[in-house]
Amino acid sequence: MQQNPTRTVIIDTDPGIDDAVAILLALKSAEFDVKGITTVAGNIGIATTTRNAGRILALEGRNDVPVIAGATGPLSRKGFDTADIHGNDGLGGVAFPDPLAAPAGNDAVAWLRETLDTADAGSIAILALGPLTNIARLVQEHPDAAKRIGRVIAMGGAVYEPGNIGPRSEFNIAADPEAAEIVFDAGLEMTLIPLDVTRKVRATRDDTAMLQNTGVPAAVASGALIDAYFQSTTGGESRPLHDPCVMLLALDEALFGCETLKLSVDTGTTRDAGALSVDETGSSVSVALKVESAAVLKLLYERLSAE
Ligand code: BDR
Ligand code: CA
Repeated sequence: MQQNPTRTVIIDTDPGIDDAVAILLALKSAEFDVKGITTVAGNIGIATTTRNAGRILALEGRNDVPVIAGATGPLSRKGFDTADIHGNDGLGGVAFPDPLAAPAGNDAVAWLRETLDTADAGSIAILALGPLTNIARLVQEHPDAAKRIGRVIAMGGAVYEPGNIGPRSEFNIAADPEAAEIVFDAGLEMTLIPLDVTRKVRATRDDTAMLQNTGVPAAVASGALIDAYFQSTTGGESRPLHDPCVMLLALDEALFGCETLKLSVDTGTTRDAGALSVDETGSSVSVALKVESAAVLKLLYERLSAE
């Protein structure tokens, strides 16, 4: 792996089984200086995603990373209910300790603004694992602060693949299509990782057993989380690891192939709400379309299993 300098990141997330694995990967990777975790309603309501962020940090004994609660729902529509996939607690019933500290605030947009305004412009990357509501609100309400974001890497969308919530729509974008449109159009340095790539990064039952056998807390929890994901969905010998791809691309971009596409978002109300189309009137976004699956899985499992 090429050596990358430490990068300061904010994780914007709705944990969520695969969000939890992604956050653990970030916490176990010395390349990341995690400045804070902002939460968003998505996989489950905001109180639970916020508490889950604290529980995941507690597993790693991290009380130095603030959790700031964000949007309670999409900009202008009703949220989805995904308890069938992520469980009633959002983490598939997997045991995590209680948070070590209460959330540091409940206004993620204000915290993002202040944090960006007081850091060097361009020095902070946002790793976005859920609906893009918080970032869209930052763009709308504090455009000068949003321009100070170094980069956004977001999991979302399906470009040439079928969707996972509608025929052509993926959960994170479909949960708040208006937010995605605002963020894509904001002129930020943006990399999107759609289902086209995340469906190629898959964990098997052998992988989850291997993770659990390490005895290392982050690996044991990740194995149990992915096993819970197996239980919630039927069929298939493996499960896609969507959100960890964001951290993996930030760690080693050479393992992914990206292309700049002009993307527009369906903001209608049909089952295709949130679907992406490649068209000349769309916003330019760098989109990951290829991945070296075996190499990214190796990197993920090594990091989670390191003592
Ligand atoms: C995305 O939707 C959520 O359910 C997952 O956490 C991931 O961010 C995959 O479509
Ligand atoms: Ca997520």
